[in-house]
Amino acid sequence: MRNQDAVILGIETSCDETSAAVVVNGRQVLSNVISSQIEIHKEYGGVVPEIASRKHVECINFVIRQALQDANLTFQQVDAIAVTYGPGLVGALLVGLSAAKGLAYALHKPLIGVHHIEGHMSANYLSHPGLVPPFLCLVASGGHSHIVKVTAYGSYEILGQTRDDAAGEAFDKIARGLGLGYPGGPAIDREARKGDSGAISFPKTKFAGSLDFSFSGIKTAVLNYMHNQQQKGIDISIPDICASFQQTVVEMLVSNTLQAAVQENIQTICLAGGVAANSGLRKAFTERCEAAGYQFYCPELILCTDNAAMIASAGYYRYLDGDVKSLDLNASPGLKLGKNRA
Ligand code: KG4
Ligand code: ZN
Repeated sequence: MRNQDAVILGIETSCDETSAAVVVNGRQVLSNVISSQIEIHKEYGGVVPEIASRKHVECINFVIRQALQDANLTFQQVDAIAVTYGPGLVGALLVGLSAAKGLAYALHKPLIGVHHIEGHMSANYLSHPGLVPPFLCLVASGGHSHIVKVTAYGSYEILGQTRDDAAGEAFDKIARGLGLGYPGGPAIDREARKGDSGAISFPKTKFAGSLDFSFSGIKTAVLNYMHNQQQKGIDISIPDICASFQQTVVEMLVSNTLQAAVQENIQTICLAGGVAANSGLRKAFTERCEAAGYQFYCPELILCTDNAAMIASAGYYRYLDGDVKSLDLNASPGLKLGKNRA
């Protein structure tokens, strides 16, 4: 019988945030330290993998120590170490994984491997202590756009996913085209609040008989619109472009997720991933779920983007399940959801 009040140290380094957190019983965050590299990568317009790995190496030990200090705990008081081992940038993943393996070995504690997307979904357990499976979760981040049926803790069924770009990727690429910098999501969200979402009509992609997404069409349509207007010497309105683009993406995400809810007969819907921080998306889901009589949950903003508390929460349920990894666990940049059992 495993300890229900287990203290999990979570570690996350899959992209450009070095993070460590301490979470008790999968639900209560004692600390969540996030060292962001955004300011460094901004200069290059996106994440430079080699720089990300090096920065993780510089920060990881400090971040882990700070997480324990903030939680007022010693290493010995931790029950297990949970770490993201995929998907993500291989060099970045290896830094967190090596730190986790070193700690697990030195402290004789179990090593728990967590899928990054499973972590994002688990952020909802931290913000909503009463939430239990089954539920549907729309995961929209810089690398993923998935509709997932969470049938039980650690048990997932993918109902739909993007066939090309992820939603966050479309935000980032359009922001770059508009000269709004990196990361694009927050910048577009800000501009969109000042614009008219009905000003420009951009195409929505929908596949018959499928819950899959595609965002490369709208990305090209927005960039083409900008270039055409500029060639004609017509001034473009950045707020109108952002508002119209965001509204179209939000509609695609909401409509497929609600269709999945009807199809699966599930009345509880959650959001997760960096794009879940989008104010238009949160508002649309809140309104549409209320109208349909569905329960709707999304993590607080700091838990939407990459952080280690969500990894510790996901790790807790794997720990309860006895899903412990051996110390030869390797980073898996293309790890598939649901394929990460020991
Ligand atoms: O989950 P996350 O931190 O990292 C990945 O796992 O990819 O997500 C980052 C993505 C970026 O594409 C970023 O532009 C997007 O989330 N994002 C947003 C917002 N905040 C972050 N997209 C739309 N609106 C936002 N407010
Ligand atoms: Zn992420």
